[in-house]
Amino acid sequence: MEATPENWSAVDDYLAEVLIGPDAALDAALAAQEQAGLPAIEVAPVAGKLLYLLAQLGGVKRVLEIGTLGGYSTIWMARAVGEGGRVTTIEAEPWIAEIARNSIDAAGIGERVEILIGRAAEVLPGLSDSYDMIFIDADKESNTLYLDQAARLGRPGTLIVLDNIGRSGDIVDADTEDSMVIGTQQALRMLGDDPRFDATALQTVGVKGWDGLAIALLR
Ligand code: DHB
Ligand code: MG
Repeated sequence: MEATPENWSAVDDYLAEVLIGPDAALDAALAAQEQAGLPAIEVAPVAGKLLYLLAQLGGVKRVLEIGTLGGYSTIWMARAVGEGGRVTTIEAEPWIAEIARNSIDAAGIGERVEILIGRAAEVLPGLSDSYDMIFIDADKESNTLYLDQAARLGRPGTLIVLDNIGRSGDIVDADTEDSMVIGTQQALRMLGDDPRFDATALQTVGVKGWDGLAIALLR
């Protein structure tokens, strides 16, 4: 096979079929998201399951998610925290939060999930809980602000996952004028330079094209 986007996508579909299979609640959440005209920019199924496995690996009970969208990744992580666990997720748009609320409740884990409505830059300073895992997947321009808040809201060993670190390879373009790429470049620099973080990143190919995830532990 050739290393083409079509083939990456076919392999990703294959992996999701073999390792995850159909999932009524997740499939319904994606259908509701599409029905509402929201972009299909949720994490890939294999990435959602990675979040779920990482959360279990870390014994995570408290998750903070920045960027809810249709609640797809929220459902994965809410399953991982188990009964007694809690996911707090921040969504800027009230009408999007309502779609996510319905899908999360329909998935049967609604009582574990709190959706905070507002711009994350304004909501985060008001939070004070200590989170075991923080998933950052919102406007890329604010990534460094989110990492700074994540460092404040975590504790040593808190797992931070930052989505979209590859951006179709644009991440290496030093002359980019794309504010989302610049925000991501600044976040990666921060993860590398700021002594609060111990980080790596993996580029990914698949149904979401060519992108990637950074994973960090708070020191
Ligand atoms: C975009 C945002 C995302 O979180 C993502 O996973 C893919 C694309 C975007 O805003 O372009
Ligand atoms: Mg994303």
